[in-house]
Amino acid sequence: MAEHPAYPVGLRLAGRRVVVLGGGQVAQRRLPALIAAGADLLLVSPEATPSVEAMADAGEITWHRRPYQEGDLADAWYALIATSDTDANNRASAEAERHRVWCVRSDDADLATAWTPATGHSEGVTVAVLTTDAKGRDPRHTAAVRDAVVEGLRDGTLVAPHYRTRTPGVALVGGGPGDPDLITVRGRRLLAEADVVIADRLGPRDLLAELPPHVEVIDAAKIPYGRFMAQEAINNALIEHAKQGKSVVRLKGGDPYVFGRGMEELQALAEAGIPCTVVPGISSSISVPGAAGIPVTHRGVAHEFTVVSGHVAPDDERSLVDWPSLAQQTGTLVILMGVDKIGKIAETLVAHGKPAGTPVALVQEGTTAAQRRVDATLATVAETVRTEDVKPPAVIVIGDVVKVGPPVPATSE
Ligand SMILES: C[S@@+](CC[C@H](N)C(=O)[O-])C[C@H]1O[C@@H](n2cnc3c(N)ncnc32)[C@H](O)[C@@H]1O
Repeated sequence: MAEHPAYPVGLRLAGRRVVVLGGGQVAQRRLPALIAAGADLLLVSPEATPSVEAMADAGEITWHRRPYQEGDLADAWYALIATSDTDANNRASAEAERHRVWCVRSDDADLATAWTPATGHSEGVTVAVLTTDAKGRDPRHTAAVRDAVVEGLRDGTLVAPHYRTRTPGVALVGGGPGDPDLITVRGRRLLAEADVVIADRLGPRDLLAELPPHVEVIDAAKIPYGRFMAQEAINNALIEHAKQGKSVVRLKGGDPYVFGRGMEELQALAEAGIPCTVVPGISSSISVPGAAGIPVTHRGVAHEFTVVSGHVAPDDERSLVDWPSLAQQTGTLVILMGVDKIGKIAETLVAHGKPAGTPVALVQEGTTAAQRRVDATLATVAETVRTEDVKPPAVIVIGDVVKVGPPVPATSE
């Protein structure tokens, strides 16, 4: 028997006779789960521990105060043999075998026809761990495996999605700058539990490849918007999928609230009565310079940093950025979405007093395998972007912090 692995099964014992022989520590440990399973419990034992006795007093088990005798297992579906009398244990085992009653033996796992797994519970599931064969039995190891699984499920380090009992709604998840390791633990867990993922081009796209095949992955840039604005079409897609009872993740690059239109999406969802949770992300504005060896602050060099959008030129009437005052600041200036307009931006900063020799770094596709850093000054940056063919997405850093790190491009690890 020992050559074959045990076959795991869940016994549904409610209302069925289970016989326990011996009222010691083993019975005390096993009885609560048998009571919880609703078994019709008969304890046969001359003595019992005070806890076992209390179970009998409470009417949770029937207790026959005597040693085992032939015939005790006649009506049993399942038996737990745990007396200190080996001879009685052997006779009870033989009776169980004759009546085809599955029986656990606390004194000799090899002679038993059933084993009790190490069990634990987490969010509606029972985790039961069994040793594969009697010879390799290592109860402390099986208990450790059980603990690792149950603890992992509880603290989210093990991701096991719910498929039927998930709460529908939308999670706006900040995916970080691109490296799949730079998403938060919560973001990753929600992604693993999603039915639908609506993803931006930026962010950890590699994580999408890991999703199970049933997950619908939608490229936000490809949602047709017809008479709507692109953002409205995305909002509508989020609402429609959530209304179908699906768990929807809106996976965004960096942090949802840093030039990410996260609040617009949250407002649209709130108006539609859809529950929404927001998971912060690591913004490219700090992490991408860092990945290229540039700290946005440095003692004695920069005591402030300002993050601005460069998606419209300084002379564009839609611009909300006060470029003249930025030119006066001594801190670090971090520009997102600024590659196309960097010539105009540099010109404006210099025109308002920023030294033309101020160092500038452009970090393209930071934290990804394609990361690239190009250095210039305010005077040369427009020309450098052209000659070096710098393309979005890139973070532009302006200020003396560009010079404090190692001169060679640093990777994110
Ligand atoms: C629409 S904004 C979104 C910013 C995002 N919410 C964040 O917190 O990082 C897009 C801009 O972020 C910057 N960006 C995002 N990820 C980047 C990356 N991996 N490398 C360089 N720049 C990046 C670029 O400036 C890009 O044009």
